Order: sequence, then C-alpha cells, then structure tokens
Amino acid sequence: MAHAELDRLQACLNLALDTFRKEMDKSQLPPLSQHSSVEHPLDDPTTYLPSTALFEARRLSLACLGELKNLIQPPLDKRLDEKYTAYVVASTDILIKTDIIDYLSGVPNPSEGAPATELASAFELDSHKLVPILRCCAANGWVRETRDSSFALNRCSRTFIKGHPGRRLNLSTPRFMSLVSVMPRWVTESDWKLSRSPAQTAFQIAYKTPLKLFSWVMENPQALVRISDHLQLFGDMSTPSIAADYPWEQLETPVIVDCGGGKGGLVSAILDAHPSLRGIVQDTENVVALTSTKMKEHRPRDVENGTLTVEAHNFFQPQPRIGNEYSFIMRHIMHNWPDEEAAVILGNVVSALGPKSKILIVDMVTVPNLDSTATTSTNSFLLDGDAKRPDYSIQSHFGSASQLVNTLSMHMLTMMNGCERSLPEWEKLVKGCGLRITNVYPLRAHTSIIECALDS
Ligand SMILES: C[S@@+](CC[C@H](N)C(=O)[O-])C[C@H]1O[C@@H](n2cnc3c(N)ncnc32)[C@H](O)[C@@H]1O
Repeated sequence: MAHAELDRLQACLNLALDTFRKEMDKSQLPPLSQHSSVEHPLDDPTTYLPSTALFEARRLSLACLGELKNLIQPPLDKRLDEKYTAYVVASTDILIKTDIIDYLSGVPNPSEGAPATELASAFELDSHKLVPILRCCAANGWVRETRDSSFALNRCSRTFIKGHPGRRLNLSTPRFMSLVSVMPRWVTESDWKLSRSPAQTAFQIAYKTPLKLFSWVMENPQALVRISDHLQLFGDMSTPSIAADYPWEQLETPVIVDCGGGKGGLVSAILDAHPSLRGIVQDTENVVALTSTKMKEHRPRDVENGTLTVEAHNFFQPQPRIGNEYSFIMRHIMHNWPDEEAAVILGNVVSALGPKSKILIVDMVTVPNLDSTATTSTNSFLLDGDAKRPDYSIQSHFGSASQLVNTLSMHMLTMMNGCERSLPEWEKLVKGCGLRITNVYPLRAHTSIIECALDS
C-alpha cells in the first residue's frame, strides 16, 4: 500500500542526510558522536561557519525529523511531551546550577562518569531525586547513563562547562517560568489583553513592575550582566555568517554604526573581516560602560586611533551620526518592539541617512505556515546534476526546524509586545518610515539581513 506522506518524508530525510554526510566529508569534519568527550566544530556556531550546503542539509534533516514525528506520534503523547518539556529545562538547569556538569568533566574517567550517589554526596543532594533528574537529561540527549544510575557528560552537555558558550545561554532570564505561566492569562483574561503597549505585557504582571523590560534591566544590575551576556551569545551565533555573507565591500559608506550594539562583538567581527571599515557601537549608558571597558581591553589600538568608537545613544532620540559617511546595523533590535515603537526607532535613523547610506536590519523573517514547499530553495544544494529529483515536500517554514523563530516570537510578544515579522510585515514597516528593502540576505543562522535604503 502507498503511504504517500510517510514515503515522501522518508525519501526527503534520506536525501538530506546523504547530503549532510557528503558535506561533512567535504569540509573534513569528524563524524558526529554523542559518546565523544570532545565538542564537535558544528556544536559552536560562534566559531564555526558551515558551508551553505551543510547548513541547508542539516536544517532540512531536522525539518524532516520534526515532520515525521508530527506524522507518527499519537497526539495525546505529543501534548504530554510538550507540557512536560518544562521539566527537561528544569533538570538541565539543575545540572548547571549545582556544578554537576563541571564535576563530571573533572572526574578521573570522564567517559565513565560518576554514580548518582557520589554526585548526591558531593553536592549534598538526595540521590532519590537526582537519579530521575539525570535520567530525564539522558533521555533528552544531555548526558549518558553509562551504568545503572551512573552518569557521564556527552558531547552536547560539554557546552555547559564553565567558560563554554552554553553556560551563558542557560542562566539568562530570571523568573522565566513565571513569565511563561502568566502568558495565557495576559492574552485571554487580563485588562491588557487588547493592549499593544510594551508597558502592558506578561512581563509587568510576572515581574510585578510598571517598568518596561529594558528599564527594569537597568534598575537590576545583576540581571543586566546576565541578560547582556545571554544576548551577546545569542547575537554571536549569527556573527560569523554576517561577517561572511553580506557584501561589505559594496558598502559605499566608510563607517558602520551598530545601534543597540550591546558589547560590540558584531562590530569587532566586521572590522576584523573588513579592515577598511570603521565602527561605532551605540547603546544605553549602562551597557556602554561595560562595552567601553571591554573594547579598551581587547582592541586598545582601534579605540585609540578612532577605528572603533563606543558611545551612549538612546535610539528613541534623533541619531547624531548624519550623512553619507554612515550605514547602520540593528541586530535583534526591531523584534523587541511593537510597530509603533519600531517605527520611531527606525525613523530616527532614517532622518540621519545620506543617499549612499544603508540600514541593515538583522532579524528573523517568519514564514506563514502555508503549504508552499521549502524544497525549491534547498534543491540546488541537495541534488547532484544527474540525480533523480525525489518526490518530497517540506513546508517552507521548515516545520519544527524553525521552532526557534516561533518560540522567540512568543517571547518577544510576552516581554515587550514585540514579534518576529514576515517579509510583508517588514515591507510595510520600512515603507512607512520612508525606506525600501533593497535586498534580503539569508544567513547561515536563524536570522537574515534585511538591507534598506532611502526610498527616493
Ligand atoms: C536584544 S539586545 C541586542 C544587542 C546587539 N545588537 C546584539 O545583537 O548582540 C538589545 C540591545 O538594545 C539596547 N537598548 C535597549 N533600549 C535601548 C535604547 N533606548 N537605546 C539604545 N539601546 C537600547 C540594549 O541595551 C541591548 O544591548
């Protein structure tokens, strides 16, 4: 009997995995293994930029796996799985917060790991609780159970060792779970359910504050350091692709201004890759204080000779860098804000533009969940010249491989009434500010560069 959808997905997965394997070999990457006690280059997007074909083949493989799961998993199991995913997050948090991760990385035989009883006594915990917690992590691919009730780090959990990137991502948002649990009440029952204001969101309810997110962060210095660390890492994940995939040499302005540039990682990477450019990092006073110190330490010569400037600027005020000398980059800024505020931020930059200036918005571009297929965009990477085109179809939003786009959109909504935008939504927003989109550069990351210029 023909199983049309199952057959197509299976064929698509096989093709995607074959391409993934071929591209790994072409890039001379070692095989992936969950038993490995070293990280794999593909584990860290902040330091390794995969070939476009490898990036696409991995994304398509993940999309197929997600669609296959949706096809064959019973809906009640799926709902239970999703509901209790919160416990996977909590279990992984426990591994990190207790330093069990670092303990396991330092045991005499890291691939054997340690018994839960040893971990429990080292951290004054109850092994009766620790075993199911570690098993939950193991079932989700974060550790390995090497013998009954003994656990070792796997390749993936190594990202949580102190000094490794995952450590910064994990402890980012204090009281995140309360934010999530308030969200349904905010949307369906609260007095603010129809409000689009960034001051009337689930964030204010959960954090019991009248302040908008960024004002609250400024008043909570402990949160500021943690959140800016988290945001920097999230940004760093697209930095190598931004430096490599945008045609910087075609930019007609000598200076790039990073509005809300955080700790300056993006400008640093652009200057490293394109030394003829100069860079300016703008952010709020408190953040700029951190960024200035960091830049003086890491790039003293650039700071002294004016190649790199760090300055306080509130993007709700008129932009002081005016004219043809400047182009502007805004990464993960616009998605924080609802259209009204986003238009004010953008409008302030537009007033400063010269005819040669560009605005580069780095954000996600959402794709409506229609039945159009993504395979047209990925075909060229997947098919050798003489290969037979298989009969497969993956929706253009890449199903669960685009989970982050959708969940991040929910996060922006919940925190600030912001959102990730589709291309028509971007077009409407920039047009309303006197701009036109001159190009969209897909990145080897979750985001794209939306290049805009004055709409003459
Ligand atoms: C989501 S982070 C993005 C950081 C950076 N662009 C990156 O990609 O790593 C948002 C940034 O906007 C900054 N910000 C918030 N409100 C601002 C304002 N009114 N003026 C200037 N910067 C602001 C924050 O301090 C933060 O660094």
